[in-house]
Amino acid sequence: MVGSSDRGETRPCDSHCGCRCLDHIIIVMPETNTPNVFHGKVIALDGPAGSGKSTTARLLARRLGFEYLDTGATYRAAALLAQRMNVSLDDDQQVERMLNQFHLHFVAETDKNRVILNDEDITAAIRSGEIDRLVTPVAGHSGIRRFLAAWQRERAAQGNVVLEGRDTGTVVCPDADVKIYLDASLDTRARRRQLDFERTGQTATLEDITNDIIRRDKADTERAHGPLKRADDAIVVDTSGMTIEEQVEKVCQVCLQRLSKKL
Ligand code: DC
Repeated sequence: MVGSSDRGETRPCDSHCGCRCLDHIIIVMPETNTPNVFHGKVIALDGPAGSGKSTTARLLARRLGFEYLDTGATYRAAALLAQRMNVSLDDDQQVERMLNQFHLHFVAETDKNRVILNDEDITAAIRSGEIDRLVTPVAGHSGIRRFLAAWQRERAAQGNVVLEGRDTGTVVCPDADVKIYLDASLDTRARRRQLDFERTGQTATLEDITNDIIRRDKADTERAHGPLKRADDAIVVDTSGMTIEEQVEKVCQVCLQRLSKKL
């Protein structure tokens, strides 16, 4: 939880708020040299596939010294487990058995979070094209959504967390201290996805990626449970044409302004 950035220094609380707990994050703003103490704060960052949410959320969390919770990875992990256990999503008992064996945690590393399911590192396995497809029905299953939303809420309750997903500001944590909705044009999102694929050694045409994004947008926005939807009180940031550094800077400024008002 200790780090530094061009926004200032972050470190666990010592005596600034008098309680000496280890959960507070102090951000010393370089402009004013004033310490801001953040305790129990939740930032919810939602948006469609390819809007740059994951990278932004991870870098934002690192800058603020917050935990990063990638809720999409929880749905992907559930899809992988369902695939391996050959679960039929129409069979409640099979789904329940699967959820009883769902023991997930994240290990924070400098440039990514490793995802561990039942002691196995599934970080790479959940990013395959097959899981991209299988995750859609899993994310549309009401029982699985209820289970994962509760799992996510429990982690968010530990405070100083950046939650990233589709429904974190509407369903998981409607009382989040800051809600951001990241968006970008379809073309921007498809090109970003293609770069992600290239980085991981996968190939796909821009047309296929665009069609896959359209399919996922439709599934995400039209599902009955936890659809992708901008919370009324979310701040919209359109990242089309922004570099990743610019969008992280923008989102970080918005968050610090909002959080500072809530001290
Ligand atoms: O962000 P992602 O592509 O890793 O998300 C994987 C899938 O999980 C995607 O189909 C949307 C779904 N999802 C969801 O339904 N609710 C969330 N809070 C996060 C992701």
